[in-house]
This record gives sequence, C-alpha cells and structure tokens, in this order.
Amino acid sequence: MNDVSMDRTKWTVHVEVRLKPRAAARFETIRSLVSSYIASFERIAIPSTLQGWNDIPELSSSVERIVACESPCPSPSLTLDQMSLQIHVYQPSQSDSFEEFSNSTPDSGGDDGDTMAASVCELPNIGWEGLWDSLIYADDIKLKLLDYIHATLVFSDANVDFNLICWNRVVLLHGPPGTGKTSLCRALAQKLSIRLSHRYSHARLLEINSHSLFSRWFSESGKLVQRLFNSITELVDDEDGFVVVLIDEVESLTAARAGAMAGTEPSDGLRVVNALLTQLDKLKHRKNVLIMSTSNLVKAIDCAFVDRADIVQYVDLPSREAIYEILRTCVCEIMQKGIISVTGVPTLKQVQMYELSSKTDQTSKSSVDAHQRSKNVGLRLLALAAQCRAQGMSGRALRRLPVIAMARFIGVGNVTFSSSTTKGPNTEPSASLQTGAVQVEQWLDGMEAIVKDKAKELDRLA
Ligand SMILES: Nc1ncnc2c1ncn2[C@@H]1O[C@H](COP(=O)(O)OP(=O)(O)O)[C@@H](O)[C@H]1O
Ligand SMILES: [Mg+2]
Repeated sequence: MNDVSMDRTKWTVHVEVRLKPRAAARFETIRSLVSSYIASFERIAIPSTLQGWNDIPELSSSVERIVACESPCPSPSLTLDQMSLQIHVYQPSQSDSFEEFSNSTPDSGGDDGDTMAASVCELPNIGWEGLWDSLIYADDIKLKLLDYIHATLVFSDANVDFNLICWNRVVLLHGPPGTGKTSLCRALAQKLSIRLSHRYSHARLLEINSHSLFSRWFSESGKLVQRLFNSITELVDDEDGFVVVLIDEVESLTAARAGAMAGTEPSDGLRVVNALLTQLDKLKHRKNVLIMSTSNLVKAIDCAFVDRADIVQYVDLPSREAIYEILRTCVCEIMQKGIISVTGVPTLKQVQMYELSSKTDQTSKSSVDAHQRSKNVGLRLLALAAQCRAQGMSGRALRRLPVIAMARFIGVGNVTFSSSTTKGPNTEPSASLQTGAVQVEQWLDGMEAIVKDKAKELDRLA
C-alpha cells in the first residue's frame, strides 16, 4: 500500500474513548493512558475500532470502546508520526428521561391540555450512540458539517469582529422524507458534544416540536416562541455548556408567513416567524449554541429563515453505493445477532472490484468455496441495491426491508402455520424455530422478492 504524500502537515485523527456507565476514573488519567497505549502502535487503520487495551488493567476496568474516527485523509491507515492525535474521553449519559418544556400558559394551570413544546436531553447520550456511524451518504456530508462547525469555533475563538464577518450558527438540512435528516442532526449534536468536551463541561440537545408549538396554541404561538427561546437563552447563559437546538420540520413554523401575505392565514403566523427570526438573531452572538433545522419542503420555508442558514445542505436519497452499505450493515447485524447464519459479506470496495472482474458464479451452492460464496452474496446484494435505487427508496424504507423479508421468508417456510392466519402471533414461535438455520441466500431471496413486489406496486401507481 502506497502512502499518500503527507510531508506538509500531519493529519488530525480524532480518537473517541467511551467509558463504562459507572466508571469513576478521571478523564485526564484515561486520556494519558490511552495516549501512551496508542504510542505502542506502528500504524492505525482509519477508521477503526482499536483492540488490545484490555490488557491494561486501568483501561479495561473503565473503558468500553476506543475508536479512531474517520478523517479526510485519503490513506486507509497512518503511521504515528503522520498523525496529530486528539483523544476525547466521554461517558454517555444513561438518562433518557427527557426534561420537557411544556407550552402551557401560566393561567392555563399546566393541566392535561398541555402539549410538549420542546424536550431536552443531556449529551453525549447513550441513546444516540452508534447513530453517526449508521448514517451513510455518498458524499462527505457528515465531515463537511463537522468542518463547518469547527471553522465557526476557530472564528469565535479568535474574536472575529462580528460587524465584518458574520454568521448565524444556523444549519438547514433539506430533502425527501426518510433520508436521515433528523437523525443526522442528533448524531451531529452527539459528535460535537464529544469533540468539544475539552471546552464545555456539558452539552444539551433541545428539540423543538414545531407542530405542537403551532397547532395547539394557535393564537398564542408568537408569545410561545418567545417564551421557548427565553428558556433556551437561559440554557445558553451557562457558558460552560454547549447547546444544540433542533428545529425539526421547520417549514411548519415558517410556512405561515407566505400564507399570511397571501391573505389565507391569520396574522398569528406572521408573529411566529417574526418571533423566531428575532430570537435567532439574538442567539447568533453566543459562542456556545448551534441551531440545526430540517425540512422536507424547502420551498415552503420562509426565505428570511433560509437566508439565515449558513449552510443549506440537500440530503438526497441514497445512491446505489450508499444503499449497498446500508443493506450490508443490516445483514451484518442480523448475522451478529444470530438470526441468520454467519457468512462473509464483502465491503463496498471489494464488491466494486468483483463487479469489474466477473459475474456471479453459477455453480451449485454445495460446490462453491467460502470466498466464491461471499462474492456471490456481494454481487446479489449490489444488484438488489441497484433495484432499490431505481425505485428511489429512502434510508428509512431500506432499514425496514430486512424485517419484512424475514417475515415473508418465515411465512413461506411454514406453510402449516399460514393456514389459520396469515399474520400475527404465529410469527414469533416460527421465528425461533428458524433461528440460526436461515442462510443468507434465503434471506436474499426474500429481499429480492419484496423489492420486485414493490416495483410492481409502483408501476400500478404510475
Ligand atoms: N442515509 C442513510 N443511511 C442510513 N440510514 C438512514 C439513512 N437515511 C435514513 N436512514 C434511516 O432512516 C430512519 C429515519 O430517518 P430520519 O432521520 O427520521 O429521516 P428524515 O428526518 O429525513 O425524515 C433513521 O432511523 C435511519 O436509520
Ligand atoms: Mg425528520
């Protein structure tokens, strides 16, 4: 493997060290232990999960996982002197009991008529662990967003004159439903809380429920937005904490203004948008806040809001390659959990080489060796990915295919059960009967059948 020329600078490599839930070790101690442990390596694969630290008692008692994260570096591995390591030690919060901002007015007495205007969770949170890695995009959206935030921090630290260079700390992700926008916002918030832990002692994610904010207290919405942002400002006042605000499906908050101007909506809609814009303008001077927003319909958003977004990022439906990776992570997961028996599934790079070199080997299953079998599985999965792409399937639709395929396979495999009812309670016992016996090829049969069925349905709709 040839090294890319890296004379100029060192590549920053972030190493994330997750502590066990009840570990009491000091972060600083762990950081220096990890640093000297890594010093024993010659080179590190990027990205990779590091192994071997269990032999060090202080680490094995406190640490759960050590990961060298992805980096813009084009080489798949780096030697120690090519890297500048940044070690982040973190202990995810276990609490999923979210604090809530009720949008009840003081005089409504906070009774059962309340809707939730927002929820807050501590970051990093165990609930969002693994989310970042599970999101797969063809272009480097994830790294691009991280770089942007890094840039704003550098500017903030340098105390750049806001009259000359100004940004709003607002990011807008838009695109078709089910492409992972909401998930990406949460994953990014989690990532930031880990990467910024040396600057901020804690971090929080506040999710605004745009729909409830609007529909329930319609005539009060303007005041409500203001009150909500007063609470946000209180959080931001704590300068040791970093706050990520997520305004999900922001079009429902801001679509109103256009309507108001066309005379179809009450002026309350106007007040909401104005309140939101005013509050955003106030927050932009604060270093420790980031506003993330999502939309399925960017055309429906108030242009004054869109204009305030420093980054407007389109999140597209997954490409064939991204679909392959999504489906591959699905198969690997159900293999790991023992639902289907373990077989090698090639990585995207490998399967792309197989694709160039040959077609599926048609020899009978019993005579193919493990390598040929894995190659065949990879090529079938790639063909499946192409069909999913042709149908414009979203990430959400893809992630539920495996379970539907399993249900279908079980249904076909247990004719005795299907005579009484087609679905329902019988599915579970038969699933346990089948466990471990299912081969990846059978599962692929199920997946292919489902995707074919979907194509037929699409044709009917068209
Ligand atoms: N690009 C992707 N890679 C992996 N998983 C994805 C992707 N896009 C969507 N998903 C899956 O779909 C689910 C729904 O995503 P969500 O963030 O709610 O989408 P959106 O907010 O764009 O409608 C997520 O749980 C995620 O697992
Ligand atoms: Mg969403």
